[in-house]
Amino acid sequence: MLLRDAHNRIIRDLRISVTDRCNFRCFYCLPNGEPPLARKETILTFEEIEYICEIFVSLGIEKIRLTGGEPLLRRDIETLIEKIARLKVQSRLEISDFRLQISDDENSKSEISNPKLKDLALTTNGHSFPSRAANLKRAGLDRVTISLDSLRCERFREITGVDALENVLQSIDAAKRENLTPVKINCVIVRGRNDDEIVDFARFAREFDVKMRFIEFMPLDSGHGWTRESMVSAKEIREKINASFPLVLKEKSRGAETAWRYEFADGAAGEIGIVAPVTEMFCGACSRIRLTADGQIRTCLFSDVEHNLRDVVRGGASHAEIIEFIQSVVLKKEARHTINDAVFAPASRSMSFIGG
Ligand code: GTP
Ligand code: 5AD
Ligand code: SF4
Repeated sequence: MLLRDAHNRIIRDLRISVTDRCNFRCFYCLPNGEPPLARKETILTFEEIEYICEIFVSLGIEKIRLTGGEPLLRRDIETLIEKIARLKVQSRLEISDFRLQISDDENSKSEISNPKLKDLALTTNGHSFPSRAANLKRAGLDRVTISLDSLRCERFREITGVDALENVLQSIDAAKRENLTPVKINCVIVRGRNDDEIVDFARFAREFDVKMRFIEFMPLDSGHGWTRESMVSAKEIREKINASFPLVLKEKSRGAETAWRYEFADGAAGEIGIVAPVTEMFCGACSRIRLTADGQIRTCLFSDVEHNLRDVVRGGASHAEIIEFIQSVVLKKEARHTINDAVFAPASRSMSFIGG
């Protein structure tokens, strides 16, 4: 049983925001440091997240990414990772043996006969990652994506509000040391803020053998500071890099991936990825669905409605009823975002709440 939406896209990728809190104040995301929206009692517990993941995996989800806010601010996240990582090896029998008071519908539970989870990743700002890397690996995390928007100390502080470039650089080392690979680096390029570092970042990818992800700025910032002029297009990013380090496209088709991936023509290490949600929209192949920290399903980054899975689960719905709910929600998944339409309505929540 697979999750298929009304546009014939199969949903394989679940992104879970485990907290809406963040200790950074990146201007393109959470510039004003609004207090967290979700109240403690509305936040999903680890057991609830585990249960929901189990159901999603039974419906064909192969990739789970934990995001935030900053996911490492969620206390004891390693325990959650351990629970979710079990879905990579769990047999049908073990799944049907799963115990949770929320639902007592054992018959439908035993019907889970599903492929396993293949990939468990985490997106972090890298602030407290170095000291956590070993435990995260031990818990069963496969790989990590680290946000890094400037290689210059003072500018890093201006962009994020925190003087932590050194921590982030150490995070990259730690991720490699613990084999949380491939290490991807997210870099949102914004005109006048860091677009003069594009080539430096490409050089960084070569020297440190990491997968850079240059991302177009999207109107998802809580400060509503996005303008089309501030967004640097994929074309411009590509041209800037090509002028210094010629690139070769790795694959003509990117499937459901967000990034066009390039290697260096001279065979150097590292990879360049360009994520162009605005100028080269990839919604047609979207395989993603999102769960917020307070248990709302978002069928698109730019959704203006959310679907309250938390109350369905807490309300004692049976396993079959939960599946039915999820399937009905997936059918409502938006065909695409409308950033480029004449009338664009910003997403109902900012990236710090939805997760990347
Ligand atoms: P993996 O393939 O799992 O490594 O992830 P990815 O390539 O999707 O990269 P990642 O999850 O790190 O996402 C990179 C960035 O792309 C995010 O931080 C977002 O800015 C953007 N992004 C990711 N998914 C979507 C999406 O579904 N829609 C849009 N518009 N942007 C997205
Ligand atoms: N536009 C594009 N990407 C964003 N992110 C956060 N806000 C935005 C935005 N407005 C991405 C960054 C970060 C991840 C968590 O979310 O890539 O690494
Ligand atoms: Fe998918 Fe929405 Fe992102 Fe488009 S904008 S790729 S539909 S989540």
